[in-house]
Amino acid sequence: MSSPAPIPDSKATFRPDLFKGKVLFCTGGRSGICYGIVETMMSHGVDAIIVGRDAKGLQESADRLSSKTGQKCIAASADVRDPEQIKKAVDLAQKTFGRIDFVICGAAGNFLAPISSLSERAFRTVVEIDLLGTYHTIKATLPLVRESKGSYIHISATLHYRGLPYQAHVSAAKAGVDALSGVLAVEEGPRGVRSNVIAPGPIGGTVGMDRLTPKGWKPEGDVPLGRMGETSDIANAAVFLFSPAAAWITGTVTVVDGGEHHIRQMSLPYPQSLLDPESVKSLIRPKL
Ligand code: COA
Repeated sequence: MSSPAPIPDSKATFRPDLFKGKVLFCTGGRSGICYGIVETMMSHGVDAIIVGRDAKGLQESADRLSSKTGQKCIAASADVRDPEQIKKAVDLAQKTFGRIDFVICGAAGNFLAPISSLSERAFRTVVEIDLLGTYHTIKATLPLVRESKGSYIHISATLHYRGLPYQAHVSAAKAGVDALSGVLAVEEGPRGVRSNVIAPGPIGGTVGMDRLTPKGWKPEGDVPLGRMGETSDIANAAVFLFSPAAAWITGTVTVVDGGEHHIRQMSLPYPQSLLDPESVKSLIRPKL
C-alpha cells in the first residue's frame, strides 16, 4: 500500500475556540479513545469532567489534560453501573461548571471468550458496563443537556455488524447502545438535543487493541485506507459531530475505521479457534 491516509490536526479544519464556554461530560476518559477525544475537545476550548473507576489514574489524566490544553478538567470517580455514583458525578459537574453541553458515553469493558465458556456473570458484567452504563449516563445528564440543547456521542463498535466469534457479550451490548442512541435522537430531537454513535475500528495504543487482538496481529492489510487508526481519527469525528456543522445530524452511526469492517478478516483462525479453543489459547491475552 503506497499512501496511507494522513492524520490531520483538528485545528487545521476547526476553529481553536469552537467550544469555548461549553462543558463536556465523558465516561471512560482516563485513557485511550475517550482521553483522545477529551484532549482534542479541550484544545478547542471546552472544559471537561472525566468519569471512571480508577480514582488515582483519573486524577492524573485530568491534571495532564488541564496542563496540556489550558482548559479546566476535573475527575469524578464513579462506576457507570451504579446510577447513584453517576448522579453524583453529574452534580459535581453542575456545581463546578453550572452546565453540561456534550456527553460522551465511552466507558466499556471487553475480553475474548466464546459463549460456551462465558459465565452468566461475565456476560452480565459487560452488558452492565457498556449498555446499562450508557443508560445511566443518559438518565443522569439529560436534564442539563436539555437545558443547553446539547449533544451525545456514544462510543460503540463495528463487531456486531457480523457474528464475530468470542464477542457475544460486547456485540449484544453495543447493538443495544446503537439502538438506545437512535431512540434518544428521536425522543429528544424536538427539544433540540442530538444523539449520535461513533463506531471505531482498530485504534493503536488502546487497551482494546492491546487486550483484544491476538499477539502478532497486524491489521494494516485489512484496512482499505492503509493504516491502523489513531485516537485523533476518532477525536476529529467527535469534534465534527459536536460542532454546529453537524446541526442536522442525529440518530446516526459514524463508522471511523478506514473501511476495515467491509473487508475484516477474523483475527483468530476460523473455525479452528472454536472447535479447538486450546489451540489458540497462547494467542489470547490472559484473563485480567
Ligand atoms: N474471560 C472470561 N471471563 C472473564 C474475563 C476473561 N478474559 N475477564 C473477566 N471475566 C469474567 C470474570 O471471570 C467474572 O465472571 P465470574 O465471576 O463468573 O468468573 C466476570 O467477568 C466479571 O469479572 P470481574 O473482573 O469481576 O469484573 P470487573 O467489573 O472488575 O471488570 C471488565 C470487568 C470487563 C471491565 C474487565 O475485564 C476489565 O477491566 N477489562 C479491561 C478494560 C477493557 O476491556 N477495555 C477495553 C474496552 S474495548
